[in-house]
Amino acid sequence: MTTGRPDRNSAKARSTAIWAAEPNGAADATLVLSITDGLQPRRYTFSEIVAVKTGVFTVSLTQYHDTMATDPKEPLKRLTRGTANEDNPDTWPEVPRMLRESEFLFPPPWQEIFGPLCRGQVDEMVVVAQCGQSIDARIATASGHSHYINGVEGLAHLHRLRALVDAVVVGVGTVVADDPQLTVRRVAGPNPARVVIDPNGRLPPSAKLLGDDGARRLVITGGRPPPGLPAGIEIVPLATADGRLAPAAVLAALAERGFRRILIEGGSNTVSRFLAAGCLDRLHVMIAPMIIGAGPSSVSLAPIERVDQAIKAPMRAHILGDEVLLDCDLSAQRIGIGIAKKSR
Ligand SMILES: NC(=O)c1ccc[n+]([C@@H]2O[C@H](COP(=O)([O-])OP(=O)(O)OC[C@H]3O[C@@H](n4cnc5c(N)ncnc54)[C@H](OP(=O)(O)O)[C@@H]3O)[C@@H](O)[C@H]2O)c1
Repeated sequence: MTTGRPDRNSAKARSTAIWAAEPNGAADATLVLSITDGLQPRRYTFSEIVAVKTGVFTVSLTQYHDTMATDPKEPLKRLTRGTANEDNPDTWPEVPRMLRESEFLFPPPWQEIFGPLCRGQVDEMVVVAQCGQSIDARIATASGHSHYINGVEGLAHLHRLRALVDAVVVGVGTVVADDPQLTVRRVAGPNPARVVIDPNGRLPPSAKLLGDDGARRLVITGGRPPPGLPAGIEIVPLATADGRLAPAAVLAALAERGFRRILIEGGSNTVSRFLAAGCLDRLHVMIAPMIIGAGPSSVSLAPIERVDQAIKAPMRAHILGDEVLLDCDLSAQRIGIGIAKKSR
């Protein structure tokens, strides 16, 4: 069996199973279901597949014989992160292109990690925020030192996120503190546009992210642009209320300018504002194996009385080297940004 596709006129989801087992291999091979009814593609083991309630697959197999294969007897090559070689090729460089060309079944292990970023659940935008933090949710020491909490894998993940989005957004506090470049350097992939939220004109004209490397650079202001900006910077004036810019207005302004997949990279003030406003689809929390003990935390929201008032964020964990990525699904509380979702 290589495909499972119900009648074309069926109202049921059209699903395609892609065989990922090795001929005559173990029974715990993975089956990929690409379900085109709004759900994200997912991978299942055979034991799970029996329980999947798609109404399409009810298979239970114990052994896969190559007589069932439609394709070559060559065993599938699998990527073990960090050990890319002839037998385990690094498949990452294909992923940014696949995402932009709407090929939404990435090679392992990328589908598991980045598949949820393919399509928005609420509208056409996909907004992901990231926090690089210690086990105790600190993003810096009490004195503000933060380089680097995350290790090689955590930083590579951040650069992969940048390579997948159209625009990366930071608050002016991060620019003043860290002077980041916000480019993709640790992995293959295109540089996103760089966006700074700067309601009070604090952005230093010498900031590295304003450098002209071909990427679009935008400054979202509260009407008072910072003085002395280099040529080519796009100024986006937005209305403020009590000095605050509505995160939904920021996203709508970015959507108007052609940016649909957005990374809110930090810092905690900016991420917290987008989270509180219901403007995130996902939150990627990258936990480094250290305890800092004091210092700013990754998110900070208004106090709540009761635990049942907490934002619910179903999550999946991924082990990346000696760090843990929590991919938190916030789509249930995500508000619409006012951009119609195209029918598929
Ligand atoms: N570990 C990580 O993942 C990570 C990532 C990035 C940064 N960081 C760290 O985070 C620290 C900086 O973060 P931070 O929280 O202090 O600052 P931030 O979030 O970078 O910037 C906050 C400032 O941006 C402006 N801003 C952002 N959103 C706004 C909105 N919706 N409305 C109005 N103004 C808005 C405000 O500027 P005004 O103050 O002018 O009003 C606000 O004070 C640095 O130490 C940096 O190293 C850590």
